[in-house]
Amino acid sequence: MEYTNLFSPIKINNLTLPNRIQRTSMVSGLATEDGHVTEDLKARYQREAKGGVGSIVVEAAVVLPSRSSYNLRISDDTFTEELKGLVDSIRQANPETKLGIQIMHFLKIARSGWRQKVTDFKIEDLPVIVEQHVNAAKRAISAGFDFIELHMAHAYTLSSFLSLANGRTDEYGGALKNRMKLPTEVYEAVRSEAGKNFPLGVRINGEDFTIKGTTLLQSTQVAKKLAGLGADYISVSAGSRFEDAPPPPPDTPPDPMSGYSGHRMSPDWWFPDMTHVYLAEPIRHHVRDGGFDTPVATAGKIRTPKQAEQILSEGKADIIGVCRALLADPDWPMKAREGQAKDIVTCTACNWCLEADSRMEKVNCSRWPEGNLIAPSPWPKKDARASALSKTAET
Ligand SMILES: Cc1cc2nc3c(=O)[nH]c(=O)nc-3n(C[C@H](O)[C@H](O)[C@H](O)COP(=O)(O)O)c2cc1C
Repeated sequence: MEYTNLFSPIKINNLTLPNRIQRTSMVSGLATEDGHVTEDLKARYQREAKGGVGSIVVEAAVVLPSRSSYNLRISDDTFTEELKGLVDSIRQANPETKLGIQIMHFLKIARSGWRQKVTDFKIEDLPVIVEQHVNAAKRAISAGFDFIELHMAHAYTLSSFLSLANGRTDEYGGALKNRMKLPTEVYEAVRSEAGKNFPLGVRINGEDFTIKGTTLLQSTQVAKKLAGLGADYISVSAGSRFEDAPPPPPDTPPDPMSGYSGHRMSPDWWFPDMTHVYLAEPIRHHVRDGGFDTPVATAGKIRTPKQAEQILSEGKADIIGVCRALLADPDWPMKAREGQAKDIVTCTACNWCLEADSRMEKVNCSRWPEGNLIAPSPWPKKDARASALSKTAET
């Protein structure tokens, strides 16, 4: 087989992922406005699991009760049963794929353009954030997820505490030790709830890509400290911060996907392929230098199995995050394994999917036939070409 590293198993804690391909978290817009699981949402993940991906990190699920339209929720016990239904349905589609869920606390934003900052939290608010993560983790475990990923990347609360742009002047801001205080408290409380044998990963930014934000100098240290705390994997993402983004038009909430940083999370077609590997590699080295063998995941415009294999064989990462490319073609892993890589319907990095997410619409792929909410099955390249031609003819 051509891609031996890519299709070798890897352990995170006691859990064996059957291959190195991880579908990183991707908001789908397929939950109801109140954050409930829908049949479309189940069908999306079932389709992806069927294609042979080693692990799926189900999209960022909100841990706090504040309104957040169309985001999946894990903010109270009433969601546990339906999340269990989601897990069961994905497992039915492919019992081999390991299933995680990303749990996320967000900063509030308003139509007026107002955006909550870490400095807006009173000291007594912070234990509530910890508690919300613990309760969410409890629900994720009851729902049957194999692992949990703590969201400490992008524009959200824990990332904002970690960021150099955190403007607090108390023990939760300033030096790295202080900026890590809340993320560490969350990690330790969730770990204590989940137990030492439950796989618990963390997603961080390798770079914020804002003037005042975190760079590799800080993120390498953050990763090493998380590895020291016992994180079972570290997923390296980038960008999607708001500090440098132009102000939104009147009466429009701020959009994290604007500005330079906003364009770095899911690199557009004009960025080089494997965009963020140069962030994952030094993070991995730093973690190894610290004496930890914590797997490091990289994501960002890794579009072909050949690229993925190269990253692994050069020791630049241990897990390959494939997000938009798996949306475009969920059979990417299966085609790679069966020597059919040439038949993969390639992601064009057009960010049609991301723009739908920014508009709070249902996320789909520009390569699919018009109106589809999942990729066709089977999905050979010739059908994608035919679909593209029919769209051109219509315009
Ligand atoms: C529509 C969309 C939604 C996303 N939602 C999340 C999310 O909920 N949590 C997260 O950590 N990353 C999210 N991402 C980022 C992806 O997980 C991934 O890191 C990024 O797209 C780069 O990988 P790719 O080039 O393989 O798509 C999202 C990306 C897209 C396009």
